[in-house]
Amino acid sequence: MINKTTGIATAFAVLMSTGSVLHAADVEVLHWWTSGGEAAALNVLKEDLASQDIGWVDMPVAGGGGEAAMTTLRARVTAGDPPTAVQMLGFDIQDWAEQGALGNLNDVAEAEGWADVVPEALQAFSKYDGNWIAAPVNVHSTNWVWANKAILDELGIAQPTTWQEFVAALQAVQDSGKVALGHGGQAWQDATIFDGVVITAGGPEFYKQAFIDLDIDALGSETMVEAFNRMDTLRGFVDDNFSGRDWNLASAMVINGEAAFQLMGDWAKGEFLNAGKVPGEDFLCFRMPGTEGSVTFNSDQFAMFDVSDDDAKAAQAAMAASIMSPTFQSAFNVVKGSVPARTDVPDTDFDDCGKKGMVELAEAAEAGTLMGSMAHGHANRAAVKNAIYDVVTAHFNGEYDAETAAEELANAVEGAM
Ligand code: GAL
Repeated sequence: MINKTTGIATAFAVLMSTGSVLHAADVEVLHWWTSGGEAAALNVLKEDLASQDIGWVDMPVAGGGGEAAMTTLRARVTAGDPPTAVQMLGFDIQDWAEQGALGNLNDVAEAEGWADVVPEALQAFSKYDGNWIAAPVNVHSTNWVWANKAILDELGIAQPTTWQEFVAALQAVQDSGKVALGHGGQAWQDATIFDGVVITAGGPEFYKQAFIDLDIDALGSETMVEAFNRMDTLRGFVDDNFSGRDWNLASAMVINGEAAFQLMGDWAKGEFLNAGKVPGEDFLCFRMPGTEGSVTFNSDQFAMFDVSDDDAKAAQAAMAASIMSPTFQSAFNVVKGSVPARTDVPDTDFDDCGKKGMVELAEAAEAGTLMGSMAHGHANRAAVKNAIYDVVTAHFNGEYDAETAAEELANAVEGAM
């Protein structure tokens, strides 16, 4: 028999539990963090949200650089069913904001003082029309080299400091019968290498002219021909099976001692750490020789799609606040290989590569040599980026010589602008 008091108590309990379910709505998160190291970092985020009763509905779309994820996203939006939160890069965030698809994070951003701690270079992508539309979770950069230390020691190769020394080191490895350069032949990976190679050929000002300002003369210049020549040189150091290989498998070649070097963004470090490898002991991290002082960055941000449901909005705000907390930024980026997206996070828990990454980011910002990565959507919009990808990858696969590639690059960009 239910007496009146119990009835009221039960109703209250139901209300309370419904209430807590209401405030702890799920977030559906679309992302491309599917490699071992990426999944380990993603777990830090999942667990952080779980500790706050924010449920996680996983929507992984494999494919480094996120092209496949962005295709899935377009299909979901077209079907009228956007995910709540989406991993996104640079100009893609601005594109979606321009289409009015994103929600507004101003309340949480103001309450938590994001404007004071997020560097201007990132705010340029996290805000649209003065409104916060995305929460930056990290800063990666693309002009890194990952090296197997045992191979270098065995062959007596010192860490190269110039492009010429780097080529000599690659040659020495190849002569020893090992694979010099672990690489995956996918357009975005070829483009990732090109970010750094363009700087080795023409310096940071040239990179800006070509990729940020889209100066057609720079794109078709002799300096660009030299950049393509250098891509030809690198092409000579990859193994026969490079075509189509995923980036994390190329990292695994360096981790396992099959290859000496990989040119890849610092998400590669996540793979080394996930395999139990220690920087300075098992592997080395250094800037692509000839690019020291420059940092080509990309920042993963979580863009929140415009949802009408109040619970979903509350969950988005809670997720954004969580992502931006200094303790989370440290815990996550230590695992991911990136550095924090806020300037006030101590480097205490970071390994030597992470500490170096943080110092170099600050120095490059100061010197004016912190530049958005072309390959990872931080230099120009997707149409231009894809036009550049096509030429870079066609050249890498032998379709064009260096002269033709520079000419095609200028034409392709002009056509996509
Ligand atoms: C980048 C992204 C990184 C990493 C990488 C490979 O675009 O910023 O977080 O995931 O792709 O998947």
